[in-house]
Amino acid sequence: MSEAAETVRLFFALWPESDLQAQLATWAKQVAGRGRAMRSENLHLTLAFLGATEAALLPDLIALASRVHFSTIRLPLDRVGYWKHNRIIWCGATEEPKALAALVEDLRAQLEAGRIHYDRKPFVSHITLVRDATALPAVPAWHPLVWEAKDFALVGSARIEGRVTYQVLQRFPAQTG
Ligand code: 2AM
Repeated sequence: MSEAAETVRLFFALWPESDLQAQLATWAKQVAGRGRAMRSENLHLTLAFLGATEAALLPDLIALASRVHFSTIRLPLDRVGYWKHNRIIWCGATEEPKALAALVEDLRAQLEAGRIHYDRKPFVSHITLVRDATALPAVPAWHPLVWEAKDFALVGSARIEGRVTYQVLQRFPAQTG
């Protein structure tokens, strides 16, 4: 990357519709304790984190993500957990659907083929609900949801007036239901 190159902070994610985000934000507030509940519009599930990337690569990224074949993902959101190492309260599926693992595998293979730099840490599916949490408080009972994700998204992240702000740059629809 040349020093003068303009960069953008990017990642690929499953991005919920706003009503699901609102539902998840309600859960986040209920379990936040002294932690920081994520804002509704920021809630998502990361598939691959690229970090600072040359803006000139955006068309290539959109082209390669368009080549990823996947089916609608039915993801049960039936589990809330706490990770001490990064102080996150998250929610996700007790059993990860095969279609999600297949999407991540194909997307990451496309990134490798395109020689796009990304964080190669193994994928652990989760939606971060709360940051800077010290423990998982008693989780109130709720009716587990099933998230039907019909697309995935390329997302840009920026800090605007001290707040992390995400922008969905492009959505990539599933080919099959
Ligand atoms: P997290 O919620 O578990 O922190 C934007 O930062 C998104 O990318 C978040 O969902 C974050 O996951 C995820 N992510 C994955 N790897 C990351 C990394 N190396 N640095 C920052 N965020 C990362």
